[in-house]
Amino acid sequence: MVDIAILDFGGQYVFNIKRTFLELGYHAEIFPFDINLKLLKEKNVKGIVLSGGPYSIYVENAPRISIEFLESEIPILGICYGHQLLIEMLGGEIVKSDTGEFGFTILYVDEPNNPLFKGLERKEICWMSHKDIAVKLPQKAKILAHTKISKIAAFNYNNIYGVQFHPEVFQTPKGYIILDNFAKICGLEKKEWDVREFIDKSLQEIKEKVGSEKAIIAVSGGVDSTTLAVLAKKALGDNLIAVHVDTGLMRKKESRRVVEYLKKLGLNVIFIDASDKVFLNLKSVTSSDDKRKIIGRIFIEEFTKVADSVNAKWLLQGTIAPDIIESTRGQADKRKGKKHGGSIKLHHNVGGLPKEIKLKILEPFRELFKYQVRIIAKELGIDEKLVYRQPFPGPGLGCRITGEITREKVILLQEITKIAEEELAKYRPSQYFAALISSRYKPFKSMFIKNFLEDAFSYISEDYAIGVKGDERIIGKILLIYSKKWNEKDWVDILQFQNNITGKYNEICRVVALLEKPRRKKYGIILRAVDTLDFMTAIPTKVYFNHIAEVVHKILMNFDEISFVGYEITSKPAGTIELI
Ligand code: XMP
Repeated sequence: MVDIAILDFGGQYVFNIKRTFLELGYHAEIFPFDINLKLLKEKNVKGIVLSGGPYSIYVENAPRISIEFLESEIPILGICYGHQLLIEMLGGEIVKSDTGEFGFTILYVDEPNNPLFKGLERKEICWMSHKDIAVKLPQKAKILAHTKISKIAAFNYNNIYGVQFHPEVFQTPKGYIILDNFAKICGLEKKEWDVREFIDKSLQEIKEKVGSEKAIIAVSGGVDSTTLAVLAKKALGDNLIAVHVDTGLMRKKESRRVVEYLKKLGLNVIFIDASDKVFLNLKSVTSSDDKRKIIGRIFIEEFTKVADSVNAKWLLQGTIAPDIIESTRGQADKRKGKKHGGSIKLHHNVGGLPKEIKLKILEPFRELFKYQVRIIAKELGIDEKLVYRQPFPGPGLGCRITGEITREKVILLQEITKIAEEELAKYRPSQYFAALISSRYKPFKSMFIKNFLEDAFSYISEDYAIGVKGDERIIGKILLIYSKKWNEKDWVDILQFQNNITGKYNEICRVVALLEKPRRKKYGIILRAVDTLDFMTAIPTKVYFNHIAEVVHKILMNFDEISFVGYEITSKPAGTIELI
């Protein structure tokens, strides 16, 4: 049985549609766009989503659905191309526009009481990516929302709905509410996932496969690996060996806490302090890829040494579904390309291990989403603090320092991280931290910035950060903008402003709001907090600049070597979540 059928018109976000429904608790499957309605009915489909796609509806052989879909009682939601297709089939008109709409766009919701838009405000932000545009509404249909350029940004006719924007990406912050509303329109109810059944099945699988052999698991202190370790311990007892490698780049006292906690949980833990080796190898290294590779290599060397010494035959990994999706589709594919050898997933998944590793691999969580791992963790009695711990990357604070990574910088960042995390946690972001850059910068003049913030002073940092443009990882520049007026701006306008800057200036991939002018000191600090579900796309968390000003002040008062502290307002894309 399938709750929602997604008809694939070739759009790049088809997987995001499926994932969002799955995460919301509905069963969604992707089908080719020309699937027969009868087949869908046999599967008892309750709702149909038409995805976006690269086509124009007015060209010959544009992909279509048959008219019987529109006559059926099954609700339909068209997204982007799907929206245009529905409008055209219902008698409206689509034409090519001069500019199209790309990136963050303000959405004016005309019908907030329509069931599709329940829970939306009159002014929202959405993510657009289209050149063709609907200019004539089908008779009897109703416009639900518009933007400056799209008069018909969303419509409804009976049980047929269309949205020009992309509710399935994180840049449309209320998008998941829209998809949830659509599922409700289809009469669907969320399914509770049976955690006990999953635990029992996994225990059985681990026992059967590993038998009386030894298994090893690398535990960082994150929820995925810790939960798997606790679960596997139940199946394997002392034959499970947990290894924690301290690279020296963890947060303050974190490794000690992780090991203590794992021991408290009854796990057999081996602790390796690799920090001296890491700092020695990182000396004079400045390229972000090289830094990642060195940290990753030392981690693996130390880990495999332990595996050999305890004669382990199995490696347990807490890989979850998004890791797999990310490394097999879209942007992550390109990351794996030759240009940027250090793809993220190479570090924290199997891909990072040397080919000659003889261990057999078991990944019991490979079909789960984070929220499900959290349910298991709670069921197993794991501490709530750990259950909701934000992700922390394998290379640790190493991803948050530009230039050479030294002990001095790490210790300073560890201290500032404590303050930053405490304050940013108040907004409940998906991920939040502080990053450290040099305070070398040059003035940057732009009328474009002055038009938005007339009192602005802008600077380009001499350091480089990682960004994503056109689906590719790039090395770009950090723009720092000082203004006293940040707190007078609408958050939606700030997002659009950032999008325009990174669109206009190709070399810039990060934008940071400064609330105080830089001093002449050694380092700068970037505060980063993002909201995301999938970590492949993200938006900066909405903060109150008056509060951020207090945090900035506190850091400047306590750390004499800091020149400036800014709040990063970059989305992903154009930036990544981590700095490098
Ligand atoms: P980016 O910076 O690429 O990060 O937007 C997306 C998510 O992945 C985490 N991340 C990593 N995790 N090893 C990891 O285990 C890595 O090398 C790595 N780089 C980024 C990052 O913290 C965020 O959650």
